Amino acid sequence: MASGADPGREVVLETSRLLLRPWRVAEAAVQRELWTERDPRVPPHRRIDAEGRPTVADLEEAIRTQKPSSIGLLAIERKAEGDVIGYCGLIDSGRGPEAEPELAFELLRRVWRQGYATEASLAVLDWARASGYRRLWATVWDWNTPSRRVLAKIGFTETERREADPVHGTTLFTTIEL
Ligand SMILES: CC(C)(COP(=O)(O)OP(=O)(O)OC[C@H]1O[C@@H](n2cnc3c(N)ncnc32)[C@H](O)[C@@H]1OP(=O)(O)O)[C@@H](O)C(=O)NCCC(=O)NCCS
Repeated sequence: MASGADPGREVVLETSRLLLRPWRVAEAAVQRELWTERDPRVPPHRRIDAEGRPTVADLEEAIRTQKPSSIGLLAIERKAEGDVIGYCGLIDSGRGPEAEPELAFELLRRVWRQGYATEASLAVLDWARASGYRRLWATVWDWNTPSRRVLAKIGFTETERREADPVHGTTLFTTIEL
């Protein structure tokens, strides 16, 4: 764990247009919408299954029982509109070297291409730097042009590491020194 990261403390980050803060149970429907909108190339465990799961109730329960984490995946709220449009934050995916988390973000399609992912990610990078992290990772499918573009814009570079999947594409491992 980085020196400034406190697992019990709630993180709230603010940018000019956005607030990044923990999810509220009432916002499970937004999470479900993100699930339904996922690209068909995304692996099945991240898509709604044949029984319709996760349901909104499943997602509500997950938010309710979420353990406090120092940052995790924060809901992105637009300050002017007051709506939640997706998430951005850090996950301990176990794929990067120990204690170097992964940046992740996902937004509702109707707000794409307005710079929100870039703005939210830069706030998370600032938080990570101030919290003592020295390096972060991000993984991205080779076909995911918008996400690759966001990562490049905020300073991530591609490493030699990649994992090819015959069905879903190749996962690229990118990194940033903070
Ligand atoms: C990736 C994602 C979060 C980007 O959100 P966003 O708010 O639209 O991102 P931004 O507006 O900050 O930047 C997007 C950049 O990609 C570019 N872009 C978007 N779609 C593109 C496309 N089809 N082809 C080429 N460039 C594209 C935009 O022009 C912009 O770059 P620019 O500023 O140089 O013009 C959003 O597309 C998403 O939620 N995707 C699904 C989930 C996902 O892939 N998450 C990441 C997993 S690694």
